[in-house]
This record gives sequence, C-alpha cells and structure tokens, in this order.
Amino acid sequence: MLRDTFHRPLANLRVSVTDRCNLRCAYCMPEEEYVWLPRTDILDFEETSRLVDVFAKLGVEEVRVTGGEPLVRHDLDVLVRMLASKPALRDLALTTNGVLLDRHAATLKAAGLSRVTISLDTLRPERFLALTRRDDHARVLAGIDAALVAGFERVKLNTVVLRGTNDDEIGDLLAFGRERNIEVRFIEYMDVGGATRWSRADVVSAREILASIAARFGAVQPVDEARGTAPAERFALADGTRFGVIASTTQPFCGTCDRARLTADGTFFTCLYARNGLDLRAPLRAGASDEELRELIAQTWRLRADRGAEQRLGLAAARQPLADVTELRAEPHLEMHTRGG
Ligand code: GTP
Ligand code: 5AD
Ligand code: SF4
Repeated sequence: MLRDTFHRPLANLRVSVTDRCNLRCAYCMPEEEYVWLPRTDILDFEETSRLVDVFAKLGVEEVRVTGGEPLVRHDLDVLVRMLASKPALRDLALTTNGVLLDRHAATLKAAGLSRVTISLDTLRPERFLALTRRDDHARVLAGIDAALVAGFERVKLNTVVLRGTNDDEIGDLLAFGRERNIEVRFIEYMDVGGATRWSRADVVSAREILASIAARFGAVQPVDEARGTAPAERFALADGTRFGVIASTTQPFCGTCDRARLTADGTFFTCLYARNGLDLRAPLRAGASDEELRELIAQTWRLRADRGAEQRLGLAAARQPLADVTELRAEPHLEMHTRGG
C-alpha cells in the first residue's frame, strides 16, 4: 500500500471543479479582484474522471467535489454520474455554499451523489450580506431545505467561527441544525491562502466554541467512536444532538492526514498549506499512460512530508496570514478557493 514518509496512506481526494465562486466570504475571498485559472487549463470531465481512476488505483476511496463553488460549474451532475459509477469509490460528497443547491439538489441525488455539506455561517440575512458581499441568504436556506427533501444520506453544515462576526450565533446555529436533524460542524478560522485578513485574535478556538455551547445547552460529551482520519471531532448534547468541531488552527490533525487535492486545472497538492503542487495536466494532455500518471502521483506521495497546520501552529505569536495579496496574485494555486476548501 502507498504510504508517505509519515506512513500516512492516500485515501481521500478533494476534487476542485472550478476556482470561481459566487460568494465573497471575508475569510476566504476578501479581495475586490482575483486572478483566475485560464479557461483552457480547466480539465474537462473526462480528464478529471480519468485522473480520479488513477488515484483510486493508488488507494483513494473517498472523493469530495469542491470549488470555489462547485455548483457554478455547468452540468456538474454529469461529472457526479461518472464518479458515482466507479466501484472503487465508497463515498462521494460535495461541499457547497448552497446558493445554487435549490436548483440542483434533486439532479445531483439522482446522479448518485451520497452526501452534501453546506456552508452556513449566520442565520441573519444582513449579516450574511456583510460576510459574503452577496444578498443570497434566502437562497442558501432554500438550498438546505432542498438537500433535505432530496434525501441525501447525510447533510451537514459547516460554520467558520469568526470573533466579533458570528461567534454570538454558535448556539442558534446548533439549534437550527437540531431542528432539522443536520449535524453542524464549527470550524476554527484558518490562516490558509486567501485568508489575507486572518489574525490570531479573530480565531475562536475549539475550547471556546465548546464552552459557549455548554453555557447554553448544558454538558457536552465527546461522541465515543473512532474518529479515524476525519478533521471533525464529534460531540453530543444531553438530548443526543450531535455536532462537530474542526480545530485545524489550534489542534491540527496532520498526523493522520490521508487527503490529497486536485485543482480544477489538474494540479495535485499533498497539503492545504503546500507551496508547490505537481502538474498532472501537462502529462495527461501529452498522452501519458495511466501507469505513467500513477507513478508520478505515487512518487510524490512517497516523498510527502507535509504537516502544514502543525508547522503553522509552531509559529505561535509570529503567526500571520500564509500569503499576501501580491503572492496570491502571482500564484493563484495558493488560494483556498483554488485548491478546494
Ligand atoms: P467529511 O467527509 O464530512 O468528514 O468532510 P470534511 O470535514 O473532510 O470536509 P469539509 O469540506 O466539510 O471540510 C471542513 C473543513 O475542514 C474545511 O473547511 C477545513 O477547515 C477543514 N479541512 C478540510 N480539509 C482539510 C485539510 O486537508 N487540512 C486541514 N488542516 N483542514 C482541512
Ligand atoms: N478558515 C476555515 N475554513 C475555511 N473555509 C474557507 N476558508 C476558510 C478559512 N480561512 C471553509 C469554508 C467551507 C470549506 C469548504 O472551507 O467555510 O466550509
Ligand atoms: Fe493534512 Fe496539511 Fe491539513 Fe495537516 S495541514 S491536515 S498535512 S492537509
């Protein structure tokens, strides 16, 4: 079995299908202007599907489709159908901001998508507008309803908690999820590429998140089950309501990280924080065989020594945003919206 230098397998692949997004969340896309990947570099669905097959041969069993916002990619259900038909994959999920989900949930379900995770940072429309610079809160709520109606195996919500922005809504968001039987995951604000406004002071830690939940709902118990390699640690309220906390910033989980990323233009990244990726588009388009592509990926994984989030934690008080605007414009692959959140 393929292992990296820390003996971590390659099991989970995040496939970004576009670097474009229809929101401008302050923690991810705060700038006015972006440099986009050239259109001709974007892989078509056959190319993406072929690369996924190569990854599957190396051990990938779980695929998550991401963006940017994946639903701005036209005919995404066509790709989902291609991926869903691969017997090697036992899990096919989508991370979306929900704006276009109302329109696509049923089609995606029919195409074979198993799970959907929707980002929801606030229950207040005016706050949503301030945070995302788009007046689309009602559409996201409609998207969440549509996902429930479509009957996905599991629907989850992702909430990035920002101090002074939405940290007063942790309890309300949890109650919103509880009413709908949706698991909410609270995510620490990360200093990833694109988060140019990041500061340590704005991070609400997992500890604080748990304290705030306990203050409103009473004792919180860790859910007693194998966490495996999932980034979320799961908890339960006394009434059984489950939720997750993703402590990437203060308690990184690099030690068990089995995930890789493929950008929309076919660049392979072995860490969310990696400076460099491996271009798979050029060999793919130059006619490389499956074996040649597999060997390129395998060689890279065998040499993998990334512990991005742990290294960031080691910076302590010197921790600053990962990249500044000039660097991001020169190398858009550093952006979270390019490498898939
Ligand atoms: P599940 O399959 O449902 O467990 O999904 P997931 O939690 O892997 O995926 P999701 O897209 O919902 O990601 C949630 C959050 O986890 C992201 O917003 C990131 O903050 C964090 N995260 C995802 N992938 C990574 C990663 O590779 N490294 C680190 N450090 N954090 C990650
Ligand atoms: N910190 C934490 N999570 C982030 N995401 C995007 N940028 C950041 C950040 N700076 C999250 C989104 C979404 C997922 C795809 O990535 O909120 O849930
Ligand atoms: Fe994996 Fe890198 Fe995230 Fe650590 S920071 S969990 S090594 S992707």
